[in-house]
Amino acid sequence: MLEEGVVGEIHFADNLQVLETLPTGSIDLIYIDPPFNTGKVQQRTQIRTVRSAEGDRVGFQGRRYQSIVVGTKRFSDLFDDYLAFLEPRLVEAHRVLANHGSLYLHVDYREVHYCKILLDAIFGRECFLNEIIWAYDYGGRPKNKWPPKHDNILLYVKDPSNYVFNTDEIDRIPYMAPGLVGPEKAARGKLPTDTWWHTIVPTNSTEKTGYPTQKPLGILRRIVQASSRPGAMVLDFFAGSGTTGMAALEKGRRFILVDNNLEAMQVMARRFDGIDGIRWVGFDPSPYQSGYTQGVLIPASVEPCGE
Ligand SMILES: C[S@@+](CC[C@H](N)C(=O)[O-])C[C@H]1O[C@@H](n2cnc3c(N)ncnc32)[C@H](O)[C@@H]1O
Repeated sequence: MLEEGVVGEIHFADNLQVLETLPTGSIDLIYIDPPFNTGKVQQRTQIRTVRSAEGDRVGFQGRRYQSIVVGTKRFSDLFDDYLAFLEPRLVEAHRVLANHGSLYLHVDYREVHYCKILLDAIFGRECFLNEIIWAYDYGGRPKNKWPPKHDNILLYVKDPSNYVFNTDEIDRIPYMAPGLVGPEKAARGKLPTDTWWHTIVPTNSTEKTGYPTQKPLGILRRIVQASSRPGAMVLDFFAGSGTTGMAALEKGRRFILVDNNLEAMQVMARRFDGIDGIRWVGFDPSPYQSGYTQGVLIPASVEPCGE
């Protein structure tokens, strides 16, 4: 799908528009980390009226009514919008996935149950493989509940009888009690389970791009290594700082990234500066790069986004 010599394509566009241009079955692996609350925030105030001589409203036959605010439906509306926003994108994601392909959906603990139901409907329950818990230890600790310190990553495959899972290539982790397993096993380490302990991107690390929702490369490397083969096409249509593209490059895969936020494009321009064979669609990275010579800039085939 990518031209000869192009290893990655980065689009400045609404992801639904780009998804609709991708051929059916053309993508081997999708990772997405959609932002919460992308839909319109609506605040609908519910009012109940009761008969009252001092009421502020006059109704049938001159009767007076008092309005009482019974609540606002801010959250349910916001939530409906979120799922309505995600659904057409997930339907497209399913369409563009190859038969052996996998989708990782990264969400937080407040949304995961609703997203699971949505994905069960789109992929089929039998295509659900794992719920990965990414556990970290960072940030404040509320005193009135268990401090939430994890994200959830749902893994679905297009065909549960034929999908890529490279067990032997997954990075191994130390045993908790290495003394119990013998020196050979201890040196080799063990396979991670569905619970991944991994630090967030450290503030002072070279990995840090400054993009507020940047995810660690270590998480993406593991996903790319486990669920795609060298040369595979990896898609992230909520790209942010481009972590998925970096992991794909490191592991010898190709990638397509999409984001509709100018700040994300600027961060990606810096992050991919100096890397050969990146094709930019709808965005000129050169003002943000030191030596922009190897890339290919082409005009957007879909409407570019403005901020
Ligand atoms: C949580 S961030 C992704 C962070 C990313 N995983 C990383 O490591 O940097 C979600 C991204 O989705 C983008 N986004 C939201 N709505 C979008 C849309 N309709 N089309 C394309 N990108 C969108 C936002 O601009 C934001 O950069």
